[in-house]
Order: sequence, then C-alpha cells, then structure tokens
Amino acid sequence: MDKIVIHGGKRLKGEVRISGAKNSALPLLFATLLAAGEHHLENVPALRDIATAEKLLTILGADVDRHEATFSIDASNIRSVEAPYDLVRTMRASVLVLGPLLARLGQARVSLPGGCAIGARPINLHLKGLEAMGARIDLDHGYVEARAKRLHGANIYFDVPTVGGTENLLMAASLARGTTVLENAACEPEIVDLATALTCMGARIEGAGTDRIVIEGVDELQPLRHTVMPDRIEAGTFMVAAAMTRGDVRLHGARHADLEALISKLQEAGVEIAEEDHALRVQGPRRIASVDIKTQPHPGFPTDMQAQFMALMSIADGTSVITESVFENRFMHVCELQRLGADISIDGKMAKVRGVKGLLGAPVMATDLRASASLVLAGLAAENTTEVARIYHLDRGYERLEEKFRTLGAHIERKKA
Ligand code: EPZ
Repeated sequence: MDKIVIHGGKRLKGEVRISGAKNSALPLLFATLLAAGEHHLENVPALRDIATAEKLLTILGADVDRHEATFSIDASNIRSVEAPYDLVRTMRASVLVLGPLLARLGQARVSLPGGCAIGARPINLHLKGLEAMGARIDLDHGYVEARAKRLHGANIYFDVPTVGGTENLLMAASLARGTTVLENAACEPEIVDLATALTCMGARIEGAGTDRIVIEGVDELQPLRHTVMPDRIEAGTFMVAAAMTRGDVRLHGARHADLEALISKLQEAGVEIAEEDHALRVQGPRRIASVDIKTQPHPGFPTDMQAQFMALMSIADGTSVITESVFENRFMHVCELQRLGADISIDGKMAKVRGVKGLLGAPVMATDLRASASLVLAGLAAENTTEVARIYHLDRGYERLEEKFRTLGAHIERKKA
C-alpha cells in the first residue's frame, strides 16, 4: 500500500488553490437524481469519494461524463433504486440518494451504513423525517426500504442538527406536495450551497444557513447547473500547516465567512490571517499560544478540523483542552501523534494537550480522513522523517495533497509500496 514520506521542518511558503468541497460535491451529485435532463456541475474535486459517487450514479442508471473538474450527468433514465452495501460501506454519504430517489421515483432501497471509525453515526433522523413526510420505511436484510406515492410536507424537528439529514430532507421536500419546515436544521455552508443549486433547479427554499428552513414543494425540477463551493476543510488544513511551520501561505479561493470559528481560534494562537482578493494569507507565529477548543455544529468549531488543530496544539506553549462534542470516537489520531512525541491524555470527550518543544518523525497511520491529515501536518513540522501509511483515507478527501504541499516547499512524496 502507498505511503506518504515527509522530511519535516521546512517553512511553507507560496500559493495554493483550494479545490471544490468534497462535502458539497457529494450531495450535489446526488441532487441530479431529482430531475430528468442534463445536469452540469463545475469545480468537482478529483477524489476517491467522488469516484464512488460516480459509480453509484451509474449503477442507478445515470449517464455520467467527466471532463477534468466538470461533470455532465443525465439522470433521465433511472433504472435502479438500490444503493448496494458495497458502496455505502465504502462511503456513508451514499445514503443521500434516499431523499432524491424517494421523492422522484416513489421508492428507494439503501443499505444501512453501520458504524464507522469516528462514531456510531446512525441515520435515524433521516428516516424519521421521511416518515413524517408520508414514507413507509421497512428494514430488510440490512437495507432501508422506503416507499411513498408522493411525499407530503411536514414540520420536522431534528433532535441534533445533522448535516446529511438536513440535506436528505431538503432534497426530498423540494419535490413533496406542500410545505416542509425543518427546525434545528444544520447551518453548514454546504447546506447553503446545496439550497442555492436546488433553487436554481426551481425549488422554493427559504432560510438555508439558519436553523429553520422552509421548503415549498414543487411538481418538477429542472436540471442543475452549479459550481461547487471551495473546500473549507482543505483550506483549514493548509492554514494549520502554515501555522505549524512558521509559514507564509496564500490560499486562493478560501472564504473567510466559511471559516470564522477556526480563524478566530488560529488568531488567538498567534497566527496572522489577512483577507485578500479571493484569497486568505496565513502567516505562522514564532511561538504558538495554547488555545482551548470545543467542536460544535456550524457556526461552532468544525469537528472536521479537530485533529489538525490538535496537531498544532501539540507544539504550542502551554496546555490546551480540546473537547469533541459532535462524534463520540474522534480521538483515534491521539496515539499516533504520541508516537511523534506529542504529550496528550484523553478523558472521555476531552483531550488535554501539553505542548512540547518539537515533534520527532516516526512511522504512523490513521483510521480516518482528518486523522490522517493531522499526521501529515505533524510530519511537516517534525524533525527527521515521518511515514504516513494507509493514505487511501487522504485520497478520499484531499485532492493532490502532497503535490500542493510540494509547491509550498515541503519535502513530501508518495511512495508505492
Ligand atoms: C457530515 O457527516 C460530513 N460528511 C462529515 O465530514 C462531518 O464530520 C459531519 O457532517 C459533521 O460536520 C459529509 O458531509 C459527507 P451529521 P454527517 O449527520 O452528515 C448524529 C469528513 O471528514 N446523528 O451532521 O454524517 C451523528 O451521530 C466527514 O469529511 C444522529 O444521531 O454528520 C453525529 O453525532 C466525516 N442521527 C451528529 O449527529 C442521525 O440520523 C452529526 O452528524 C444523523 C446524525
């Protein structure tokens, strides 16, 4: 299996372009199931998860044509309504076909994803919402079977704000009869991106980006034409890399408004961040101050940046407390950071990070995407050589990661095993 080899200690300097957001592109690709005709989606990143989504759309009967970052998708002839276990197991976001298939074709059969490396991650709130909209839901051999002649509007309250749940119901409600109100909805920028695209397709949506979204269902939608928003988590990962290496980096396409919680915490740690024309300039400090963070749904500190921020705090002056409140098992990177010399102890949802003078390279591996990213960042700041194994996790969510770091002056390469 491939690995990434990093000779750390180089100051990162230069410019990098932020790719389209994985977590926006995935629901947008599945939104094409809502309407017949040819859809166009621009700025789609080249990632393993996107390839999985493409495969799923093809299995369902869509014609998918990709030219660089542009996808043309014709979803006129959907032949199947089943998302098979093999695909859902490799990518949980596959459950986002449930809402669109049910709304347009009246049925869907989607494998239950099961738990994953960061938590149990149930989809009960997706299903409860669809039931409230009139769907009949049965469980059969690990598959969710959903049926509805036509979904109807409903008032739905989410017990916890769920990104995927909000996206699934937003898509379903766009084609339902009557009005749907989503209360305690997720407010992530990716929800706004999806709502913007759906609105261009003819959907009637108000309040996306707040915790109350109102959707007036329509009978039919037009094909989608949309450009995927920049990836705020990729941008955040590069910001932390600049911070950890006393770097000076310009991130083209990164949007301040999507990253406010992270930016304010980085500034507290002493990082200088300036908004420029369609870019953010990030300058790392000589000494990093320790800062406490608690992950929360947007606009709180994103759980998808927790592992990377912990890598930063591992070389800060003093002690910081990191609380993970979104997922129950998202500290799998801690043992690996310890292998590089980090001083971290965990107590339930909290990690206490006592900053050390420096990290020392070692072989490491991780069990999920952002944990792997945190190890790459630690490797960039560490002395000597760090080898990160199981990099298929990184390929799921970061486009040309090592190439982009190399343009910033890092000594990093991918080695075939
Ligand atoms: C999305 O996952 C992202 N994935 C995740 O990105 C991200 O970590 C997460 O949102 C939180 O921001 C995509 O967008 C494809 P949730 P999602 O439903 O939608 C609980 C990455 O690294 N919950 O908002 O699956 C759940 O267990 C990843 O790119 C229920 O209890 O997350 C969790 O504790 C990984 N019942 C909380 O809600 C439900 O029915 C938030 O999960 C649904 C969720």
